[in-house]
Amino acid sequence: MQPILDVIQRRRSAFDQHPFIRFLRDEGIPAQQRLAYAPYASHFVLTFADFNREFLREDEPETSRQEMVNRHADEDATHYAWFLHDLDVLGFNPQCRFTDALAFLWSDLGKHARAMGHFVIAATRDTSAPMRLVIIEALEAQGNVWLTATVQAARSHPDRDKLRYFSQSHLDRETGHAIGSDVDEIHATVLPTELRARAETLVHGIFDHTEAFCAEILRRTQSASASTMFGFAGEAARTAR
Ligand SMILES: [Fe+2]
Repeated sequence: MQPILDVIQRRRSAFDQHPFIRFLRDEGIPAQQRLAYAPYASHFVLTFADFNREFLREDEPETSRQEMVNRHADEDATHYAWFLHDLDVLGFNPQCRFTDALAFLWSDLGKHARAMGHFVIAATRDTSAPMRLVIIEALEAQGNVWLTATVQAARSHPDRDKLRYFSQSHLDRETGHAIGSDVDEIHATVLPTELRARAETLVHGIFDHTEAFCAEILRRTQSASASTMFGFAGEAARTAR
């Protein structure tokens, strides 16, 4: 497993300097403006819950590695509820009609958010537990960078004490690795030689999709904050017409 973990580490270090991550860490920008990205992440956060529940976990795990995958999936499948809670705290609920919200979620402007979810689901199909652990490690590595930067932004938000998804307590539940497993156990996982090339392709695919998704989020967040009228709701309503 070590060679593929090295690839993940290299991609993680590069992602750490992504313009969206730097935007989240920029203390010169008000926290409300930084966290205004939340709606643009919605499709992926909810798809990610499905991904954990329906694609990573197996009802009857046959190996200790699949049990590791299940432990992780059972925990991470529940976090979207904190995200919904935070969308309410951050004030997005009164902003748009249901049909506007649907058009917003499936608009061309959010295609990279959807592509990210579709990619990880497709990547997981017909894989065994060691490959699923690689996918989890890649997702947790990028997720840790993004959540750490988000929590930094949330610390300056006036409603910081009400936030759950965008909070230190969420970050504390995520280790940056498969949740509920010892890092040594992950490192000791043997990835069959014939799967190594595919694993590397999947890791690059996850990071490539993450970077495109984050560039999309940054673009939408900045153009919403530059718009004089409606912000997120403005895009939603325009998309619906
Ligand atoms: Fe999570």
